Amino acid sequence: MNDDLQKRIQAALANPQNMGEMTGADSIGTVGNADCGEMLRLWVKFKEQNGKRVIDRATFQSFGCETAIAVASLATELIRGKTAEEALALKTEELAGELGPLPPMKIHCAQLVEGALRSALEPEKAEIKIEKISTPSSGTNLLDSFSKPKEGVKLTFLD
Ligand code: FES
Repeated sequence: MNDDLQKRIQAALANPQNMGEMTGADSIGTVGNADCGEMLRLWVKFKEQNGKRVIDRATFQSFGCETAIAVASLATELIRGKTAEEALALKTEELAGELGPLPPMKIHCAQLVEGALRSALEPEKAEIKIEKISTPSSGTNLLDSFSKPKEGVKLTFLD
């Protein structure tokens, strides 16, 4: 990873936005990545604005990789005020925002965020490679999924 990208990631991590679980979310998506064991959960809350249902706020929890956390921080800001359709139309590189182009070995970090977004906004069409894991009840954080799996919650890592 080049120094400029590393600096941009560190800048995003110095003031991460929208970290943590959200109570009363309208939609929740969770994905795991078999390549590195990274997991990410995204909570989304909608509001009515000018006759449209737009994203009021999105928050996330993540394990591990700094790039995924930086992308999730930027992406949760980027999707604010967008409809679900507009948010889903964003490309992987757009979600990475000001981080700029990611090196090939880090593209899957942004895809993890994209997968969580799809899982939350369009669960029936979530990417096959990044599998939706569960839809937890409100108040369940990502760590709970590992330490206290509930009946019916399935963690499946794909090749
Ligand atoms: Fe796997 Fe970043 S290294 S999500």
